[in-house]
Amino acid sequence: MSTRAIVLAAGKGTRMKSSRPKVLHEVCGRPMLWWVLEALRAARVDEIVVVANPELAPHLSGFGVQVVEQAEQLGTGHAVRTALDALEPREGALVVAYGDMPSIDAAIVEDVQTALDADAGTALALVTARMPLPSSFGRIVRAGNAVARIVEAKDCTPAQLALDEMNAGLYAYDEGALRETIGRIGASNAQGEYYLTDTVELLIAAGNRVVPVPAADYRSVLGVNDRVELAAARAVINQRLCEAQMRAGVTIVDPATTYLAPEVTIGPDTVVYPNTAIGGRTRIGANCAIGPNCRLGNAILADDVIVTESIILDSEVGAGTRIGPFAHLRGGSRVGASVRIGDYVELKNAVLGDEVKANHLAYIGDASVGDRTNFAAGAITCNYDGVRKHRTEIGKDVFIGTNNSLVAPITIGDGALTGAGAVVIRDVPAGDKQVGNPARSIRKNPAEA
Ligand code: UD1
Ligand code: CA
Repeated sequence: MSTRAIVLAAGKGTRMKSSRPKVLHEVCGRPMLWWVLEALRAARVDEIVVVANPELAPHLSGFGVQVVEQAEQLGTGHAVRTALDALEPREGALVVAYGDMPSIDAAIVEDVQTALDADAGTALALVTARMPLPSSFGRIVRAGNAVARIVEAKDCTPAQLALDEMNAGLYAYDEGALRETIGRIGASNAQGEYYLTDTVELLIAAGNRVVPVPAADYRSVLGVNDRVELAAARAVINQRLCEAQMRAGVTIVDPATTYLAPEVTIGPDTVVYPNTAIGGRTRIGANCAIGPNCRLGNAILADDVIVTESIILDSEVGAGTRIGPFAHLRGGSRVGASVRIGDYVELKNAVLGDEVKANHLAYIGDASVGDRTNFAAGAITCNYDGVRKHRTEIGKDVFIGTNNSLVAPITIGDGALTGAGAVVIRDVPAGDKQVGNPARSIRKNPAEA
């Protein structure tokens, strides 16, 4: 049978002090809410309803969920009730999670469902976690061994505040039992809100069993209410992403300063040095060395690539190529195998063949460059005339001299050479040698080249 989940995300998130809805703040390159949905889906929850406020709702079209609007934020109990009112009643388990707990994983979602299913008399299984104090989480109050109720931090007596077992905010309800209970929640508490957590006491009073599911590590149920907690959740998730790569054979010298995104793939025996961010759908081959101080976004690197202190965005790099330090590849550039891109070289929408060298201080934009061609220091493509961009086509085995300006649109044939300081404004035939400003041939008969 399919499993249904309600994710609460309509809160105002005032503690974020942000114009952006809280659950859209990013954690490791993805909105906080995405991580919650990902954990639910990985636990085979297939019908997800997100409760959103009117500001958030328009942003949820890409998330593949049903959206229920909660116009006024009267509390978590009210939010669940709003969702239930919009849904056809069903029998069986209903998972409820908060949208501000990005560090949950599939295992804990499965555990809480299993605990609900274990006994027919159980109406609610809820994840609890021991946490360092002080904490703003709701306290689990036990009577003997059994859970008796949850008291929100703002409603706690000093003795209750000293309890260190917390309500994580992840529940598996029997949907029928929840529907019978949700309308009986009151709002006489410190915040004047309808607390979902009051269902614990109400379900127990109606003769149901409520079972706790202790989380092994509270860091998997962090709540994000402000930007300090956002950073804490990011660190936990990033560490997890790094651990998955390390277990798959990648050396990460310093996970604390290596920033990964969930869709990144890295081949075995690649080493990632500190201060390196690898984001988007970056794919890195085996036996590469990346970093220190690199930023890769949607980069595709073959095997044996070395990238040091450089930026590669939306670009591809062939096997055995060395990039950096201080290089910048962007805009759909494609670099062949065994290429050398050195200090202060920028590539934009440039296609380079194999064994090309641009070792220092070059700009290659809107260009194609053939195999083994050499760009000397200071050579640039002048691809922009102030109005439009133009292409530069450079053949194989070409030598572009120091401080050249290649004024596009222009074509330079195979084996050509341009001297130091040339300003090339006309096409250069294959094998020709040109110097000067504007560049002209120094061969008596260029046709004999
Ligand atoms: C809540 C729990 C607390 C738990 C903690 C775990 C309640 C009453 N308290 O407290 O026991 O320890 O989470 O992180 O449930 N929301 C709505 N509509 C509303 C109010 C809130 O959708 O009217 C959403 C929020 O967007 C948020 C989630 O519900 O994603 C939880 O609300 P929040 O205000 O963050 O509750 P906490 O005070 O953190
Ligand atoms: Ca919260």
